[in-house]
Amino acid sequence: MTTLSTITVQVPATSANCGPGFDTLGLACTLYNTFEFTLLPRGWVLEVEGEGKDELKAGPENLIFAAFDAVWRQFNPQPYGLKVKMHNVIPMSRGLGSSSSAIVGGLVAANVLCGAKLSLESLLALATDIEGHPDNVAPALYGGFTISYMQGRVAHTTKLIPQLPLQFIAVVPEQPLSTAKARAALPAQVPLKDAIFNCSRTGLLVAALLTGNATHLATALEDKLHQPYRAPLIPGLAAAMDAAKKSGAYNAIISGAGSTIMAYAPIEADGALIARAMVNALAQVGQKASYHLLTLDNEGARIVN
Ligand code: HSE
Repeated sequence: MTTLSTITVQVPATSANCGPGFDTLGLACTLYNTFEFTLLPRGWVLEVEGEGKDELKAGPENLIFAAFDAVWRQFNPQPYGLKVKMHNVIPMSRGLGSSSSAIVGGLVAANVLCGAKLSLESLLALATDIEGHPDNVAPALYGGFTISYMQGRVAHTTKLIPQLPLQFIAVVPEQPLSTAKARAALPAQVPLKDAIFNCSRTGLLVAALLTGNATHLATALEDKLHQPYRAPLIPGLAAAMDAAKKSGAYNAIISGAGSTIMAYAPIEADGALIARAMVNALAQVGQKASYHLLTLDNEGARIVN
């Protein structure tokens, strides 16, 4: 019998909050980081192609190694080494789940190499412990749209596959925005009327996705819990959102904690036209941006060898 010692995992980018569902809703989309893990007798090695090539280092503070270790050590107490080759496409610190992809990649790889003893629910709980909130790690693991919640300190999620075929236009400003800075901009308390505003929009959004009826989708993507407070951190946000709507999108939102602005559009809309209108709006305030035209990933993290 041979023992599996190399495994390659592909993990989708994610977009958390989806407008009104702060720290709750998330979706997986068709942009992927790929991680090849090889067990070694000793030592930690990292090879990076693409995003983060000059910044990322092997070590316990690296989320891929930390996540791998959190699973591996449960079943293998003896010392070990690990080489990770990453092909990184998901932009970093832009609200597209790059850190979640690293966490989920490490957890899934270690779990498979250990004989797949942990359930998806257990991996979600571990991923949330590392990430701090479940709304990016859940869709990275499960794919689709996810509705996540905390019960005490344990994260849970439910996945839904929408009846509404959507495309997502991710406009990525050159300027990164750290989640810590974007969270520091939020107030400790919000007015009750804003909480009610978001409850109604979140319900409408889930209804639109489940029924395939887009009548209220533009309204359903509105938010008052985080976007107004984060807007000053993303110059040109309002103009880019406006440009998205005027060129065929239902609406646009801040993806995760930003800085990416994501438009939700009908599948048949001209995504490149919407993207260019948004990029031009950002250029008016001196912000350079690139874009990705995406759809929903229904599968989540997967083994590709
Ligand atoms: N829900 C989180 C936030 C996502 O908006 O801060 C970022 O990780």
